[in-house]
Amino acid sequence: MRIAVVGATGMVGSRVATEAGARGHQVLALSRRPGREGPNVTPIAVGVTDSPAVREVLAGSATNGAADAVVLTVRTVPVDQEFLVGATRAVLDIAAQLGIRVLVVGGAGALRSPDGSDLPVADNPAYVPAEWNTVAAAGVAQLRTCQAHAGADWVYLSPPALLEPGERTGRYRRGTDTLLTGADRRSWISAEDLAVAVVDELETAGPERLVTVVHRDERPAA
Ligand SMILES: NC(=O)c1ccc[n+]([C@@H]2O[C@H](COP(=O)([O-])OP(=O)(O)OC[C@H]3O[C@@H](n4cnc5c(N)ncnc54)[C@H](OP(=O)(O)O)[C@@H]3O)[C@@H](O)[C@H]2O)c1
Repeated sequence: MRIAVVGATGMVGSRVATEAGARGHQVLALSRRPGREGPNVTPIAVGVTDSPAVREVLAGSATNGAADAVVLTVRTVPVDQEFLVGATRAVLDIAAQLGIRVLVVGGAGALRSPDGSDLPVADNPAYVPAEWNTVAAAGVAQLRTCQAHAGADWVYLSPPALLEPGERTGRYRRGTDTLLTGADRRSWISAEDLAVAVVDELETAGPERLVTVVHRDERPAA
């Protein structure tokens, strides 16, 4: 596949680019400040708000074909909901016109709480301390933007509560709209294993539009 990663120098995007490249996919690695070239990874300096430039990259050229999928994995610090929603809508618009599947790496706040409270994670102080409220709300707004888009083929991947650099085990558990915890009751995954899940989702699309994953320490039964 040809996979465009928007936010390719970030914690998640860089690992998605590496994982996809290692599996033999051609990766178009987009960010404003381009990263380093890697196996099958081509860095491209493009801002996500520059729609004509994004469209040009995704559409390809006579020598390089169009992208088959685009992964949107951008973040700003401090969070800027207007930017996130605008960037998401712009990528969905372009992808819909070109017939390209979109995978959005979003936030855990968009999921349901697993504690039976029926609260979205974003509104549940048990999972989201007050200082993360605006970040969680932006993730929810990003999901709503996807849900409101008429034409695009999208999937929104919510990480678990904690996502940080770590080890690539290649193992994870996949769920849909509810926050997952592992056997150790922690809602956690390494960015490396999240990248495995992202590329798996692109290679084998499930029917769900909202999916989530969590670490899996135990080896699967043989
Ligand atoms: N538990 C959770 O729910 C959780 C935890 C962590 C992350 N996340 C989510 O995972 C996603 C990725 O986060 P991350 O931690 O990987 O972010 P990050 O490390 O801060 O990286 C952000 C990436 O976005 C790019 N970017 C920022 N503004 C851009 C623009 N205008 N145009 C193009 N690229 C732009 C940056 O590159 P340039 O600045 O060079 O453009 C960089 O590559 C986000 O949606 C974040 O909310 C969720």
